[in-house]
Amino acid sequence: MSTSSKRSSSHAARPIRIAPSILSADFARLADEIQAVEAAGADLIHIDVMDGRFVPNLTVGPVVVEAARKVTRLPLDVHLMIVEPERLIPEFADAGSSYLTVHVETCPHLHRTLQMIKERGVKAGVTLNPSSPLNLVEPILAEADLLLIMSVNPGFGGQRFIPQALEKVRQARAMIDAQGLQVELEVDGGVKADNMKALAEAGATIFVAGSAIFGSKDYKDAIRRMRESAGR
Ligand code: DX5
Ligand code: ZN
Repeated sequence: MSTSSKRSSSHAARPIRIAPSILSADFARLADEIQAVEAAGADLIHIDVMDGRFVPNLTVGPVVVEAARKVTRLPLDVHLMIVEPERLIPEFADAGSSYLTVHVETCPHLHRTLQMIKERGVKAGVTLNPSSPLNLVEPILAEADLLLIMSVNPGFGGQRFIPQALEKVRQARAMIDAQGLQVELEVDGGVKADNMKALAEAGATIFVAGSAIFGSKDYKDAIRRMRESAGR
């Protein structure tokens, strides 16, 4: 398929992937929880790393990524909500991260940081807080494997989807397509079956969901309902 035919293909043809965020899992039974969502049809495992500085909450480090790597075959999608992420990128890469996503707000030398991730054989992601404009990533989009649009202010699970994020996803899709890129477009925060259809139509390809999956009784049913809503 030529690049132009890929670019003009409808959103309906674009596959979607579901990434349960373990932030809402039972950490005392983390291996079981990861294996349960894998069995329920998850495509990636989303791991939220928080430092108590960039965001008010504090979560996990490379040791937990390493532990997760041992119990699943799924790619590990590691979201770094930490200041000076370049100080810890080598450790997170060695721990077995498949994607490492950094915030533009924490990276004055974003181009260099993305190179640093890719040099270690890890896919490089970049993300924006709800208040950060998309044009901050426009010049380096070609260097990224993934663009994550935050649809809540990062720090906690179970928050409400910020409605303006939908239009931002649409604009991000247009920006990716205008540059002829194959960058994954991910959305994180308040994602559930109710808003999956609109987000999929706006062009998102990876859907992070914490409370919508781990807060449900039946993970398989929760993931099935999300896919059904997206229509693919
Ligand atoms: C928020 C995190 C999210 C969080 C999403 O800071 O980046 O990944 O776990 O949780 P829900 O899906 O419950 O909004
Ligand atoms: Zn996240």
